[in-house]
Amino acid sequence: MPGGERTGRRFVSRGYSLPAMSVISHDVRSGNKPDRNLALELVRVTESAALAASRWVGKGDKEAADQAAVDAMRLLLDTVPMDGVVVIGEGEKDEAPMLYNGENIGDGSPPVVDIAVDPLEGTTLTARGFGGALAVIALAERGTMFDPGPCVYMEKMAAAPQYADLLDLDAPIGEVIAGIAERKGGDPEDVTLTVLERPRHEEKAAEILEAGACIRFITDGDVQGALLAVSEGTGIDLLWGIGGTPEGVLAAAAIKCLGGEQIARLWPRNDEERQAAIDAGYDLDRILTSSDLVSGEDVFFAATGVTDGGLLDGVRRSRRGFLTTESLITRSRSGTVRTIGARHDRAKLKEVTGGRYG
Ligand code: FBP
Repeated sequence: MPGGERTGRRFVSRGYSLPAMSVISHDVRSGNKPDRNLALELVRVTESAALAASRWVGKGDKEAADQAAVDAMRLLLDTVPMDGVVVIGEGEKDEAPMLYNGENIGDGSPPVVDIAVDPLEGTTLTARGFGGALAVIALAERGTMFDPGPCVYMEKMAAAPQYADLLDLDAPIGEVIAGIAERKGGDPEDVTLTVLERPRHEEKAAEILEAGACIRFITDGDVQGALLAVSEGTGIDLLWGIGGTPEGVLAAAAIKCLGGEQIARLWPRNDEERQAAIDAGYDLDRILTSSDLVSGEDVFFAATGVTDGGLLDGVRRSRRGFLTTESLITRSRSGTVRTIGARHDRAKLKEVTGGRYG
């Protein structure tokens, strides 16, 4: 069933003891004290996936790049104490040896969370050496991430906070563009959309051009597309397109903190998928907001660039034996957005990862 009905493992105390109530301060009880920010731990997880995938940039082998990212992400996820279950992962258990949907992650200690991963968002971008590939993860309270069931795609539209109320998947896209142009104090020519370049988008792309706006096509990577659309100063005003449901949930997790909005609607690929979704109880007409896709109040998101993009720099290999990464991490409860640059010593990295990457 969509969102909120999964039952996770029950947390069984393994020697963790809470202090007596009398020694818990008022601030802790009322939740007013800063606590652990999981995003600061998750950045190591996405860095590791990006570092591992970066070995495969421009090598023409997207499966190998993806597998390297999955392996590295799994290795580092084990360092994060939590009781996690993968709800958006690499697919079903039999097809995905690691990070499969339903896989339990962590040592079973709190927090009890849902995990969404895309160890390599942009496998083809990486294989072809194109920009915009990311390693991505999001965590939220258990049962708060939307489970897309049999639906592979959703139609999505995303924009910054000042245009959020204009988003509409049913209105002619020219109307949405005109609304944004008016708010910008300009004309439709001043509005830029990012759209995945796909045959299924040809009709809508023609409508966009007809309305006077311009399109920056992307060959892959609509998580980054959505994040560019909601962020200031990127030159992108609106994302529209039919892309992956996992990517939609991941983008929603980031948008819960970054601000702006993404609306989405499930888009079955064929009658069989449509029927399977209806049988499973999905409402295919429902417009899903970011908060429908990730309803948690304490949502953590981390992304590290694999190849250079408008959002983040990719992994760079210096001649002096260092690798550098750039990551974006966010937490919805505090609203903190951090960009983290890191320098990694290649030789030491190889040593501590048993040669898995570096
Ligand atoms: P991969 O990293 O799995 O290749 O996905 C990249 C991507 O472009 C996503 O960003 C997007 O949501 C989806 O694929 C679109 O799917 P399709 O390539 O089937 O149109």
